Amino acid sequence: MNTYIRNYSKNELIEDTGRISWTSPSNIALIKYWGKYGHQLPCNTSISFTLNESKTTMDFSWSSKDTPSDEIVLDFYFENKKNQLFEDKIRAFLEKNRELFPMLKFLNLEIESTNSFPHSAGIASSASSMSALALGLCSIENQAFDLDICEADLIQKATYVARLASGSASRSVFPEVASWGENTLTSIKSSDELAAPVEGVHEVFRTYRDSIVIVDGGEKAVSSRAGHALMEAHPYRELRFKRANELVETLYNILKSGDTKSFCDLVETEALELHGLMMNSSPSFILMRPNTLAVIEKIREFRKESGLDLCFTLDAGPNVHILYPQSIEEEVQKFLSSEIKPLAQNGLIIHDRVGQGPERFL
Ligand code: DP6
Repeated sequence: MNTYIRNYSKNELIEDTGRISWTSPSNIALIKYWGKYGHQLPCNTSISFTLNESKTTMDFSWSSKDTPSDEIVLDFYFENKKNQLFEDKIRAFLEKNRELFPMLKFLNLEIESTNSFPHSAGIASSASSMSALALGLCSIENQAFDLDICEADLIQKATYVARLASGSASRSVFPEVASWGENTLTSIKSSDELAAPVEGVHEVFRTYRDSIVIVDGGEKAVSSRAGHALMEAHPYRELRFKRANELVETLYNILKSGDTKSFCDLVETEALELHGLMMNSSPSFILMRPNTLAVIEKIREFRKESGLDLCFTLDAGPNVHILYPQSIEEEVQKFLSSEIKPLAQNGLIIHDRVGQGPERFL
């Protein structure tokens, strides 16, 4: 257990009631986390861009319980409506990890959550929502119990807690580029328990845009959770984890050098490798849709014709993330309107970019 996980009693409660609000972004992995062991620990290191526009805002309020109890008192609202399903999921998570937050004995909690992206976009919201949840809980205990935890320790506990809720959420608490997982590279500071910011990234990558083409916003046939589980007996298991860690090293060097061409090659290979792993699982599954491939082909054609360094990546779903530097935004936007929009469901493309990470409002 990490030392920043504190123990405290009701006597230390200095704010009987209060409110806190956090906004936390989603992230898009460049090298993917796919396969886990133990208690939410990754089988390989992953690296992601933190996004800016695709985010969750969570408003938290707390009040002191009349009598301390083991019961977790939580009211959860999503998009202004009570949401029993999410509430039960969060309560189950807190019950499982109650030693992380002694405050749960003394406080009633109410959470209101909203996403910046439309429901129908099918964007994974677990990274933004679980990182917002973790940040809110860590801030409440710090403030209500006057723990005097410094910002860096609070973020560290938040990445730890977010990881337990959803692995990829651990990376969302950091600005721009983050890694999660142990690696032999000394410059990659993350561990399997804690994500960390990736430092020394070339300016060009800090300007990157991510235009998310919504190919299909519906529910996925196979959840990430189930996909991770299929890596346990995957025929390419060991090869994949070794290779992913090597790709992290290659990507890190590219990120430092500013080589946007090599970035395109590596990121696309990795995206297709993730989907290849899905196709080679037992049972096999395919999350790409026909228009996922149509978009990929268009991107490759346009790159060849224009010589511009735009590329794609995919998460565990059919939508395509188109990545490119700000300097070619105008040309890429024209291409998106004419060639890609017709392939998107209801013409939906969400324009996002590398962002500065979570923000606290209250
Ligand atoms: C393909 O973080 O959603 O997006 O830990 O089970 O919640 P859980 O999985 P999750 O998996 C993300 C998979 C991915 C790759 C990535 O973000 O690294």
